[in-house]
Amino acid sequence: MPTPLPPDWTDRLALDRAHVWHPFTQMQVHETDPPVPVIGGEGCDLLLANGERVLDGISSWWTCLHGHGHPRLVSALERQAAKLDHVMFAGFTHEPALELVARLKPKLPARLTRAFFSDNGSTAVEVALKMAFQAQLQRGEQGRDRFGALRGGYHGDTLGAVGVGELENFMTGLFSPLLLACERLEVPEDPRRDIHPDLAGWPARLDAAREALRAFFHMHGGRLAAFIAEPLIQCAGGMRMWPPELLQELRAQCDAHRVYLILDEVATGFGRTGTFLACEQGGSISESDASGSEAKLRDRWRGVAPDLLCLSKGLTGGTLPLSLTWATDELYGHFWGTPASGRAFLHGHSYTGNATACAVACASLALFDDEPVMANAAALYGAMLAAFTALAAHPAVRQARVLGAIGACRLVDPATGAAHPPEARFGWRLHRRALDHGLLVRPIGDCLYLLPPLSTPPARLAEAAATLLDLLDGMTTRE
Ligand SMILES: Cc1ncc(COP(=O)(O)O)c(C=O)c1O
Repeated sequence: MPTPLPPDWTDRLALDRAHVWHPFTQMQVHETDPPVPVIGGEGCDLLLANGERVLDGISSWWTCLHGHGHPRLVSALERQAAKLDHVMFAGFTHEPALELVARLKPKLPARLTRAFFSDNGSTAVEVALKMAFQAQLQRGEQGRDRFGALRGGYHGDTLGAVGVGELENFMTGLFSPLLLACERLEVPEDPRRDIHPDLAGWPARLDAAREALRAFFHMHGGRLAAFIAEPLIQCAGGMRMWPPELLQELRAQCDAHRVYLILDEVATGFGRTGTFLACEQGGSISESDASGSEAKLRDRWRGVAPDLLCLSKGLTGGTLPLSLTWATDELYGHFWGTPASGRAFLHGHSYTGNATACAVACASLALFDDEPVMANAAALYGAMLAAFTALAAHPAVRQARVLGAIGACRLVDPATGAAHPPEARFGWRLHRRALDHGLLVRPIGDCLYLLPPLSTPPARLAEAAATLLDLLDGMTTRE
């Protein structure tokens, strides 16, 4: 049984019920399961109003990196807000924004030289799409009026971002009359990430996927302004881990067809996949780079370098909203001209370049330099492997897999081996029940995953796995 809430929450929840509209929620659900009041955050835990403490097993929508209320982030916020909270960023600049680009630049592929600021992952994507389209026009490539994207991707909720995403039964269908033209490419999941991999025929399947990718570009390449992908793992699409070899091939095909490559690292950036950026794991430098210009050769990036890179979520360590879209010199050059040339990128938001958020982002990046953040992420990988190996042994679990500090599996009805039907609301029930046992998880469809702050002690993951195993033992499809 959940611990009851203190009496003062009765009125507050009535206020919530009367006037608040929560995101991604059929609000009728809250008639029986009201939102859970949270009164604090401490390290990798959230403190609930009923006095319980829960492990933030999903980093509060994948934002929190160093734990909640990290003293260095809090003090950066306080200091900056007292000095300069915010100033419009058109025609003005400030120290925290400059420190942020100086700190981040060396951690990125060298070809990314220009940072455009906005406020969240969706707008970072929106900016990238608009930049790619305008740059194509301004470099004389007419008729590139559509985008390429992976099947099952998610890039945010603004209309542009929805247009290049594709989540089943989600917004893509509903809003289809309003969306950008987008051609979608299917990539296979990478069985090498599975705890119990089935590698039979894998090289042939990978070759076929590479061929399909080439055929896709042969057919659509001349019409695409850009291709957008979440490198290595499609997160909201159900933690679908896909092969780095195809990311390399994507880069090569984009080059061959003059299509800009947008990598959306909104969720994967900042150490989540075991490297600072997921695209670092794209393998060796692509052939097109190796045979390319001197500038490309200088850019001896270990992985796959995009033309546009979207960052948000972990950018401020999970404290404040902020995002960046990084572009190459080549792309930026197409916007250069006199004021009368009409080539400027006319886009911005009221809070673009918010000084307080930039200062917190600097403090978060400083932690990467001063503290063993990446070593902690590596330790989490080991703990994640152990946790999902334990989960994989449960009859209600299939396809347990791990990438860096992200672990995931499919939940099935052990009697049939099939996914629980949506009306059984198995994932939601598991979410609510886990909260009563000290754990915040929030399955996406049939995908149960753990993506905790990088600062989470590995032992807490073992506890989380034990909790989940207990809960799965006691749950059935229908109750
Ligand atoms: C890969 C990716 N891109 C973009 C977004 C959108 O970010 P935001 O929710 O901050 O708008 C998300 C959000 O989950 C995401 O996972």
